Amino acid sequence: MTQDELKKKVAEAALKYIKDVPVIGVGTGSTTNFFIEMLADYKADIEGAVSSSVGTTERLKKVGIPVLDLNDVGTLEVYIDGADEISPHKHLVKGGGGALTREKIIAAASKKFVCIADGSKCVERLGAFPLPIEVIPMARSYVAREMVKLGGQPVWRENFVTDNHNHILDVRNLDILDPIKMEQTVNNITGVVAVGLFAMRPADIVLVSKGEEIITL
Ligand code: 5RP
Repeated sequence: MTQDELKKKVAEAALKYIKDVPVIGVGTGSTTNFFIEMLADYKADIEGAVSSSVGTTERLKKVGIPVLDLNDVGTLEVYIDGADEISPHKHLVKGGGGALTREKIIAAASKKFVCIADGSKCVERLGAFPLPIEVIPMARSYVAREMVKLGGQPVWRENFVTDNHNHILDVRNLDILDPIKMEQTVNNITGVVAVGLFAMRPADIVLVSKGEEIITL
């Protein structure tokens, strides 16, 4: 099976989690994009979705799903999104697509976070994928120096501006032994908007496609 076929398969497996859910949270990325395409068949049952990025908003509208403001809908029942790395504890690294801050907000505001991914995303320890950090532009160099002190090698994602008009640092070489502690430490650096570690609020359910199988963590 190709990676796209695996992504499609796991996206399909997430559909059972949106039964009788009028408003769903929708993430960003190629796996989630397959899920959005599939939502077209369910639009009669869906009141709307809360979107994690401008790109996802466009895609949702294209398939006929109204996009709602999180401030108007309160707590969400379900949030569906992909990940860049997944640990056995359902801690995640996210933000490869640069949408980590809004993704974190939706995850925080959701009762159930269902993460969908192909098997290549599963790791024993987080950190091989460069950790994305959204920063206020004027703090970029300062935050980079702080990340060097933590043992990382930050790289500015040049020519990229987030939907919130901020910058992204991708930090390589971090050995993330304690993801919760690392998330707290990075959150405490002045100028950090959000770090792409989802450990304090991990996924509740992880669906992984491996060959023909869907594994639920
Ligand atoms: C975007 C994300 C994505 O969920 C993550 O990058 C995975 O993307 P894909 O499904 O394309 O592999 O966090 O900010």
